[in-house]
Amino acid sequence: MIDLFALARPVLMRLPAETAHRLTLAAAEAGLTPRQRMTPDPRLGVDFLGHHLASPIGLAAGFDKNARVFDRLYDAGFSFVEVGGVTPRPQIGNPRPRLFRLPEDRAIINRMGFNNDGAEIIAERVRLRRRAGRLLGINLASNSDSRDPADDFVQLVARFASLADYLTIDISCPNTANGQMFLRTGPLQDLLGRINAWFAAHDQPRPALFAKTGPDVTQEETSDIVDCITQAGLDGMIVSNTTRDRPASLKGQAAGERGGLSGAPLFDSSTRMLAQIYAQAGDRLTLIGVGGIASGADAYAKLRAGATVLQIYTALVYQGPGLIGRIHKELAALLRRDGYATLAAARPPR
Ligand SMILES: Cc1cc2nc3c(=O)[nH]c(=O)nc-3n(C[C@H](O)[C@H](O)[C@H](O)COP(=O)(O)O)c2cc1C
Repeated sequence: MIDLFALARPVLMRLPAETAHRLTLAAAEAGLTPRQRMTPDPRLGVDFLGHHLASPIGLAAGFDKNARVFDRLYDAGFSFVEVGGVTPRPQIGNPRPRLFRLPEDRAIINRMGFNNDGAEIIAERVRLRRRAGRLLGINLASNSDSRDPADDFVQLVARFASLADYLTIDISCPNTANGQMFLRTGPLQDLLGRINAWFAAHDQPRPALFAKTGPDVTQEETSDIVDCITQAGLDGMIVSNTTRDRPASLKGQAAGERGGLSGAPLFDSSTRMLAQIYAQAGDRLTLIGVGGIASGADAYAKLRAGATVLQIYTALVYQGPGLIGRIHKELAALLRRDGYATLAAARPPR
Protein backbone atom coordinates (compact mmCIF):
# COMPACT_ATOMS: atom_id res chain seq x y z
CA MET A 1 0.00 0.00 0.00
CA ILE A 2 1.30 3.49 -0.82
CA ASP A 3 1.85 5.45 2.40
CA LEU A 4 0.04 8.68 1.48
CA PHE A 5 0.87 10.23 4.82
CA ALA A 6 4.61 9.71 4.25
CA LEU A 7 4.26 11.40 0.85
CA ALA A 8 2.16 14.29 2.13
CA ARG A 9 3.95 14.82 5.45
CA PRO A 10 6.70 17.23 4.30
CA VAL A 11 4.06 19.46 2.67
CA LEU A 12 1.61 19.25 5.56
CA MET A 13 4.31 20.12 8.10
CA ARG A 14 5.20 23.30 6.18
CA LEU A 15 1.60 24.54 6.20
CA PRO A 16 0.02 26.33 9.15
CA ALA A 17 -1.28 23.62 11.48
CA GLU A 18 -4.97 24.40 11.00
CA THR A 19 -4.63 24.45 7.20
CA ALA A 20 -2.90 21.06 7.32
CA HIS A 21 -5.74 19.74 9.48
CA ARG A 22 -8.36 21.07 7.04
CA LEU A 23 -6.56 19.41 4.12
CA THR A 24 -6.35 16.12 6.04
CA LEU A 25 -10.10 16.22 6.66
CA ALA A 26 -10.77 17.12 3.00
CA ALA A 27 -8.63 14.17 1.89
CA ALA A 28 -10.57 11.88 4.21
CA GLU A 29 -13.86 13.23 2.88
CA ALA A 30 -12.64 12.53 -0.65
CA GLY A 31 -12.06 8.91 0.36
CA LEU A 32 -8.26 9.13 0.60
CA THR A 33 -8.11 7.76 4.13
CA PRO A 34 -5.87 4.71 4.11
CA ARG A 35 -7.79 1.45 4.45
CA GLN A 36 -5.61 -0.37 6.87
CA ARG A 37 -6.74 -3.95 7.13
CA MET A 38 -6.00 -4.68 10.75
CA THR A 39 -5.97 -8.08 12.31
CA PRO A 40 -4.51 -7.24 15.69
CA ASP A 41 -3.24 -10.02 17.93
CA PRO A 42 -6.31 -11.58 19.63
CA ARG A 43 -4.78 -10.56 22.98
CA LEU A 44 -5.73 -6.96 22.16
CA GLY A 45 -9.46 -7.73 22.04
CA VAL A 46 -11.50 -5.89 24.66
CA ASP A 47 -15.16 -5.69 25.69
CA PHE A 48 -16.37 -2.11 25.91
CA LEU A 49 -19.96 -0.86 26.17
CA GLY A 50 -21.41 -4.07 24.84
CA HIS A 51 -19.07 -4.26 21.85
CA HIS A 52 -16.14 -6.60 21.40
CA LEU A 53 -13.37 -4.41 19.98
CA ALA A 54 -10.40 -5.91 18.12
CA SER A 55 -8.12 -3.43 19.87
CA PRO A 56 -8.42 -0.71 22.52
CA ILE A 57 -7.31 2.15 20.24
CA GLY A 58 -9.83 4.92 19.50
CA LEU A 59 -9.69 8.44 18.12
CA ALA A 60 -9.93 11.31 20.64
CA ALA A 61 -12.33 14.26 20.43
CA GLY A 62 -11.29 17.33 18.47
CA PHE A 63 -10.06 15.67 15.26
CA ASP A 64 -13.49 15.30 13.62
CA LYS A 65 -15.32 18.09 15.44
CA ASN A 66 -18.10 18.30 12.85
CA ALA A 67 -18.67 14.58 12.19
CA ARG A 68 -17.62 14.98 8.57
CA VAL A 69 -15.41 11.91 8.24
CA PHE A 70 -15.87 9.70 11.29
CA ASP A 71 -17.41 6.87 9.27
CA ARG A 72 -14.16 6.56 7.27
CA LEU A 73 -11.89 6.46 10.28
CA TYR A 74 -12.80 2.93 11.35
CA ASP A 75 -11.25 1.74 8.08
CA ALA A 76 -8.02 3.47 9.09
CA GLY A 77 -7.86 1.09 12.07
CA PHE A 78 -9.67 2.83 14.93
CA SER A 79 -11.88 0.59 17.05
CA PHE A 80 -14.00 3.56 18.06
CA VAL A 81 -14.25 7.25 17.27
CA GLU A 82 -15.34 10.26 19.33
CA VAL A 83 -16.67 13.23 17.32
CA GLY A 84 -17.12 16.80 18.57
CA GLY A 85 -16.91 18.86 20.77
CA VAL A 86 -20.37 19.90 19.77
CA THR A 87 -22.14 22.94 21.23
CA PRO A 88 -25.90 23.57 20.95
CA ARG A 89 -25.49 26.53 18.58
CA PRO A 90 -22.80 26.80 15.87
CA GLN A 91 -19.71 28.62 17.07
CA ILE A 92 -16.73 30.09 15.19
CA GLY A 93 -14.25 29.59 18.02
CA ASN A 94 -11.27 31.79 18.85
CA PRO A 95 -9.42 34.03 16.34
CA ARG A 96 -6.67 32.38 14.29
CA PRO A 97 -3.93 31.35 14.66
CA ARG A 98 -5.17 29.01 17.38
CA LEU A 99 -3.37 25.73 16.66
CA PHE A 100 0.40 25.37 17.06
CA ARG A 101 2.84 22.50 16.57
CA LEU A 102 5.80 21.99 18.87
CA PRO A 103 7.70 19.40 16.80
CA GLU A 104 10.72 19.27 19.13
CA ASP A 105 8.37 18.25 21.92
CA ARG A 106 6.06 16.02 19.87
CA ALA A 107 3.29 18.27 21.18
CA ILE A 108 0.52 20.63 20.11
CA ILE A 109 -0.97 23.71 21.74
CA ASN A 110 -4.54 24.53 20.75
CA ARG A 111 -6.99 27.21 21.76
CA MET A 112 -9.59 26.38 19.13
CA GLY A 113 -12.46 27.41 21.44
CA PHE A 114 -15.04 24.87 20.23
CA ASN A 115 -15.36 25.93 16.60
CA ASN A 116 -18.15 23.66 15.32
CA ASP A 117 -21.25 23.55 13.14
CA GLY A 118 -23.67 23.19 16.07
CA ALA A 119 -25.89 20.37 17.31
CA GLU A 120 -28.52 20.38 14.56
CA ILE A 121 -26.18 19.98 11.60
CA ILE A 122 -23.89 17.56 13.40
CA ALA A 123 -26.77 15.39 14.64
CA GLU A 124 -28.04 15.09 11.07
CA ARG A 125 -24.58 14.07 9.80
CA VAL A 126 -24.27 11.49 12.54
CA ARG A 127 -27.72 10.12 11.77
CA LEU A 128 -26.85 9.71 8.08
CA ARG A 129 -23.35 8.26 8.49
CA ARG A 130 -23.60 6.11 11.58
CA ARG A 131 -23.39 2.34 10.99
CA ALA A 132 -24.51 -0.43 13.31
CA GLY A 133 -21.61 -2.17 15.02
CA ARG A 134 -19.30 0.87 14.79
CA LEU A 135 -18.79 2.26 18.25
CA LEU A 136 -19.30 6.02 18.35
CA GLY A 137 -18.92 8.63 21.07
CA ILE A 138 -20.07 12.25 20.88
CA ASN A 139 -18.27 14.93 22.86
CA LEU A 140 -20.51 17.70 24.24
CA ALA A 141 -19.67 21.25 25.33
CA SER A 142 -21.52 24.45 26.21
CA ASN A 143 -21.54 27.54 23.99
CA SER A 144 -18.96 30.12 25.09
CA ASP A 145 -21.61 32.84 25.46
CA SER A 146 -24.17 30.61 27.16
CA ARG A 147 -26.15 32.11 30.06
CA ASP A 148 -26.84 28.62 31.47
CA PRO A 149 -24.03 26.20 30.49
CA ALA A 150 -25.67 23.33 32.42
CA ASP A 151 -28.80 23.74 30.31
CA ASP A 152 -26.63 23.55 27.16
CA PHE A 153 -25.49 20.10 28.28
CA VAL A 154 -29.05 18.99 28.99
CA GLN A 155 -30.15 20.12 25.50
CA LEU A 156 -27.21 18.26 23.94
CA VAL A 157 -27.83 15.08 25.88
CA ALA A 158 -31.47 15.21 24.73
CA ARG A 159 -30.43 15.76 21.10
CA PHE A 160 -27.76 13.05 20.96
CA ALA A 161 -29.05 10.39 23.38
CA SER A 162 -30.28 8.11 20.62
CA LEU A 163 -27.37 8.77 18.25
CA ALA A 164 -24.31 7.45 20.07
CA ASP A 165 -22.96 4.58 22.14
CA TYR A 166 -21.60 7.08 24.64
CA LEU A 167 -21.78 10.79 25.32
CA THR A 168 -18.92 12.75 26.84
CA ILE A 169 -19.59 15.67 29.13
CA ASP A 170 -16.47 17.77 28.62
CA ILE A 171 -15.84 19.54 31.92
CA SER A 172 -12.18 20.37 31.34
CA CYS A 173 -11.73 22.55 28.24
CA PRO A 174 -9.00 25.08 29.00
CA ASN A 175 -9.93 27.33 26.05
CA THR A 176 -13.31 28.90 26.78
CA ALA A 177 -14.59 31.10 29.61
CA ASN A 178 -16.92 28.45 31.03
CA GLY A 179 -14.99 25.36 29.87
CA GLN A 180 -13.80 24.41 33.35
CA MET A 181 -16.62 25.70 35.57
CA PHE A 182 -17.89 22.14 36.18
CA LEU A 183 -14.56 21.06 37.63
CA ARG A 184 -15.99 22.51 40.88
CA THR A 185 -18.20 20.08 42.73
CA GLY A 186 -21.17 22.41 43.38
CA PRO A 187 -21.81 23.22 39.70
CA LEU A 188 -20.91 19.63 38.72
CA GLN A 189 -23.47 18.11 41.11
CA ASP A 190 -26.11 20.49 39.77
CA LEU A 191 -25.22 19.62 36.15
CA LEU A 192 -25.28 15.85 36.65
CA GLY A 193 -28.51 16.12 38.66
CA ARG A 194 -30.15 17.98 35.77
CA ILE A 195 -28.97 15.40 33.24
CA ASN A 196 -30.28 12.55 35.40
CA ALA A 197 -33.58 14.39 35.85
CA TRP A 198 -33.91 14.71 32.08
CA PHE A 199 -33.47 10.95 31.59
CA ALA A 200 -35.91 10.24 34.44
CA ALA A 201 -38.54 12.41 32.76
CA HIS A 202 -38.10 11.11 29.21
CA ASP A 203 -38.56 7.68 27.77
CA GLN A 204 -35.27 7.76 25.85
CA PRO A 205 -32.45 5.24 25.55
CA ARG A 206 -29.68 6.16 27.94
CA PRO A 207 -26.27 5.86 26.23
CA ALA A 208 -23.23 5.44 28.44
CA LEU A 209 -22.24 8.78 29.98
CA PHE A 210 -18.61 9.79 30.49
CA ALA A 211 -17.14 12.94 32.03
CA LYS A 212 -13.84 14.17 30.62
CA THR A 213 -11.50 15.69 33.14
CA GLY A 214 -8.15 17.43 32.90
CA PRO A 215 -4.88 17.68 34.80
CA ASP A 216 -5.22 21.34 35.84
CA VAL A 217 -6.75 20.49 39.22
CA THR A 218 -5.26 19.21 42.46
CA GLN A 219 -5.45 15.59 43.63
CA GLU A 220 -8.01 16.61 46.28
CA GLU A 221 -10.18 18.31 43.66
CA THR A 222 -9.92 15.26 41.43
CA SER A 223 -10.99 13.05 44.30
CA ASP A 224 -14.08 15.24 44.91
CA ILE A 225 -14.92 15.17 41.20
CA VAL A 226 -14.68 11.37 41.14
CA ASP A 227 -17.01 11.14 44.17
CA CYS A 228 -19.54 13.39 42.43
CA ILE A 229 -19.39 11.36 39.24
CA THR A 230 -19.78 7.98 40.92
CA GLN A 231 -22.62 9.28 43.10
CA ALA A 232 -24.44 10.56 40.02
CA GLY A 233 -24.17 7.10 38.44
CA LEU A 234 -22.13 8.04 35.37
CA ASP A 235 -20.53 5.14 33.52
CA GLY A 236 -16.99 6.39 33.30
CA MET A 237 -14.40 9.09 32.84
CA ILE A 238 -12.03 10.15 30.08
CA VAL A 239 -8.63 11.04 31.45
CA SER A 240 -7.48 13.48 30.28
CA ASN A 241 -7.98 16.67 28.36
CA THR A 242 -5.11 19.03 27.46
CA THR A 243 -3.29 21.09 30.09
CA ARG A 244 -2.60 24.79 30.66
CA ASP A 245 0.62 23.76 32.36
CA ARG A 246 3.91 24.32 30.52
CA PRO A 247 6.64 21.90 31.65
CA ALA A 248 10.06 23.59 31.83
CA SER A 249 11.37 20.97 29.39
CA LEU A 250 9.44 22.40 26.39
CA LYS A 251 11.68 23.43 23.48
CA GLY A 252 9.15 24.35 20.78
CA GLN A 253 8.98 28.01 19.71
CA ALA A 254 5.24 28.06 20.32
CA ALA A 255 5.58 26.99 23.97
CA GLY A 256 4.45 30.43 25.14
CA GLU A 257 1.13 30.34 23.24
CA ARG A 258 -2.03 30.26 25.34
CA GLY A 259 -4.14 27.13 25.15
CA GLY A 260 -4.16 23.44 25.97
CA LEU A 261 -0.97 21.42 25.58
CA SER A 262 -1.28 17.85 24.26
CA GLY A 263 1.11 15.13 23.15
CA ALA A 264 4.24 13.70 24.80
CA PRO A 265 4.59 16.36 27.55
CA LEU A 266 1.05 15.51 28.75
CA PHE A 267 1.76 11.82 29.13
CA ASP A 268 3.06 11.73 32.73
CA SER A 269 0.48 14.01 34.34
CA SER A 270 -2.47 12.42 32.53
CA THR A 271 -1.28 8.89 33.38
CA ARG A 272 -0.76 9.80 37.07
CA MET A 273 -4.27 11.20 37.14
CA LEU A 274 -5.65 8.06 35.52
CA ALA A 275 -3.95 5.88 38.17
CA GLN A 276 -5.35 8.07 40.97
CA ILE A 277 -8.88 7.83 39.60
CA TYR A 278 -8.62 4.07 39.08
CA ALA A 279 -7.34 3.62 42.65
CA GLN A 280 -10.33 5.57 43.95
CA ALA A 281 -13.16 4.39 41.68
CA GLY A 282 -12.08 0.84 40.84
CA ASP A 283 -14.86 -1.05 39.12
CA ARG A 284 -17.44 1.68 39.54
CA LEU A 285 -16.13 3.68 36.57
CA THR A 286 -14.88 2.59 33.16
CA LEU A 287 -11.83 4.67 32.23
CA ILE A 288 -10.71 5.85 28.80
CA GLY A 289 -7.00 6.73 28.90
CA VAL A 290 -5.80 9.56 26.67
CA GLY A 291 -2.88 11.98 26.69
CA GLY A 292 0.47 11.63 24.98
CA ILE A 293 0.15 8.05 23.72
CA ALA A 294 2.70 7.65 20.90
CA SER A 295 3.81 3.99 21.17
CA GLY A 296 2.82 0.55 22.39
CA ALA A 297 4.77 1.18 25.60
CA ASP A 298 2.71 4.34 26.25
CA ALA A 299 -0.51 2.44 25.57
CA TYR A 300 0.60 -0.34 27.91
CA ALA A 301 1.37 2.15 30.69
CA LYS A 302 -2.15 3.65 30.41
CA LEU A 303 -3.72 0.19 30.55
CA ARG A 304 -1.58 -0.71 33.55
CA ALA A 305 -2.76 2.51 35.19
CA GLY A 306 -6.37 1.33 34.90
CA ALA A 307 -7.73 2.30 31.47
CA THR A 308 -10.08 -0.10 29.69
CA VAL A 309 -9.64 1.54 26.28
CA LEU A 310 -7.46 4.35 24.89
CA GLN A 311 -7.61 7.35 22.59
CA ILE A 312 -4.97 9.14 20.55
CA TYR A 313 -4.74 12.43 18.69
CA THR A 314 -1.48 14.44 18.77
CA ALA A 315 0.87 11.55 17.93
CA LEU A 316 -1.14 11.00 14.74
CA VAL A 317 -0.11 14.46 13.57
CA TYR A 318 3.53 13.46 13.78
CA GLN A 319 3.38 9.76 12.90
CA GLY A 320 0.33 9.46 10.64
CA PRO A 321 -2.19 6.61 10.63
CA GLY A 322 0.58 3.95 10.49
CA LEU A 323 0.86 4.63 14.23
CA ILE A 324 -2.23 2.52 14.94
CA GLY A 325 -0.71 -0.67 13.52
CA ARG A 326 2.61 0.03 15.27
CA ILE A 327 0.87 0.41 18.63
CA HIS A 328 -0.99 -2.87 18.02
CA LYS A 329 2.26 -4.75 17.33
CA GLU A 330 4.23 -3.22 20.20
CA LEU A 331 1.40 -3.66 22.68
CA ALA A 332 0.89 -7.31 21.74
CA ALA A 333 4.65 -7.91 22.17
CA LEU A 334 4.55 -6.37 25.65
CA LEU A 335 1.59 -8.52 26.68
CA ARG A 336 3.36 -11.61 25.37
CA ARG A 337 6.57 -10.66 27.20
CA ASP A 338 4.72 -10.31 30.49
CA GLY A 339 2.65 -13.45 30.03
CA TYR A 340 -0.78 -11.82 29.73
CA ALA A 341 -3.25 -13.63 27.49
CA THR A 342 -5.68 -10.69 27.44
CA LEU A 343 -5.69 -6.94 27.96
CA ALA A 344 -8.06 -7.32 30.89
CA ALA A 345 -5.51 -9.55 32.66
CA ALA A 346 -2.87 -6.81 32.36
CA ARG A 347 -4.95 -4.24 34.24
CA PRO A 348 -3.85 -3.87 37.84
CA PRO A 349 -5.86 -5.57 40.61
CA ARG A 350 -8.32 -3.22 42.32
C1 LIG B 1 -6.68 20.49 18.03
C2 LIG B 1 -7.30 19.80 19.20
C3 LIG B 1 -8.65 19.96 19.43
C4 LIG B 1 -9.27 19.32 20.51
N1 LIG B 1 -10.60 19.48 20.72
C5 LIG B 1 -11.20 18.84 21.77
C6 LIG B 1 -12.60 18.97 21.99
O1 LIG B 1 -13.32 19.64 21.24
N2 LIG B 1 -13.14 18.33 23.06
C7 LIG B 1 -12.37 17.56 23.91
O2 LIG B 1 -12.90 16.99 24.87
N3 LIG B 1 -11.05 17.40 23.70
C8 LIG B 1 -10.46 18.02 22.65
N4 LIG B 1 -9.11 17.85 22.45
C9 LIG B 1 -8.31 17.03 23.41
C10 LIG B 1 -8.08 15.60 22.91
O3 LIG B 1 -9.30 14.92 22.76
C11 LIG B 1 -7.17 14.84 23.90
O4 LIG B 1 -7.83 14.75 25.15
C12 LIG B 1 -5.82 15.51 24.11
O5 LIG B 1 -5.33 16.06 22.90
C13 LIG B 1 -4.78 14.57 24.70
O6 LIG B 1 -4.51 13.49 23.83
P1 LIG B 1 -3.22 13.46 22.84
O7 LIG B 1 -2.02 13.83 23.68
O8 LIG B 1 -3.17 12.09 22.27
O9 LIG B 1 -3.49 14.50 21.81
C14 LIG B 1 -8.49 18.50 21.38
C15 LIG B 1 -7.13 18.32 21.11
C16 LIG B 1 -6.52 18.95 20.04
C17 LIG B 1 -5.05 18.75 19.79
